[in-house]
Amino acid sequence: MTTHISDQPAVACGEYILRALAAKGQASLAVSGGSSPRKMFEWMAQQPFDWSRVDLYWVDERCVAPDHADSNYRMTREALLDHVQPASIHRIQGELEPETAAWFYEAELPERFDVVHLGMGADAHTASLFPGSDAILDQHGKTAAVYVEKLDSHRVTLLPRMILGAEELVVLAAGADKAEALRAVFNEPVDLKLRPIQLVAQQAHWFLDPAAALLL
Ligand code: 6PG
Repeated sequence: MTTHISDQPAVACGEYILRALAAKGQASLAVSGGSSPRKMFEWMAQQPFDWSRVDLYWVDERCVAPDHADSNYRMTREALLDHVQPASIHRIQGELEPETAAWFYEAELPERFDVVHLGMGADAHTASLFPGSDAILDQHGKTAAVYVEKLDSHRVTLLPRMILGAEELVVLAAGADKAEALRAVFNEPVDLKLRPIQLVAQQAHWFLDPAAALLL
């Protein structure tokens, strides 16, 4: 586990990801959605980087159409894919019935990812593995369709096996609203159903801003 604290964690995390990808020939990258990654993707889009050797995947997706405001694909397209051309793009088909979308997506997955980028919610969720969900305990599956009650939202998510199997695992978390969750992740006993992102606490490279890292 390494922790990088800076005023621009999105840039630091983006630099780390591009360096890790550049060190390989063909490389697979799985990215998360939400709001934090947008700045990182916008920065990445401005870098002189050869995306023709990158196969792009998502860690999770909301079960909505690709042009829906909540779509992780849409956010990534606007911030990155309208500007760069990866070797391949493997979209989770959020417009399909969730189980079907998970089944189709699983068929496209590599055995393992070269790089996986995660975010963290203020409730210590990551991917679409939320507190209380049994999916965090699934050690064998690759993907799952999950219903997130607190958000009344169906999602498709990678499962722990695909996340932990990554050669490089990074977490980008910024903002004061993440401070208490980060304190608990690194200082409370491991309880994956309570704090799902503890799954990767020791394996990941953490990119934080001072506000998120305040209680560490
Ligand atoms: C999603 C993401 C999710 C995200 C966290 C943090 O689909 O929402 O994959 O796991 O990483 O919710 O989101 P922010 O970075 O926007 O706080």
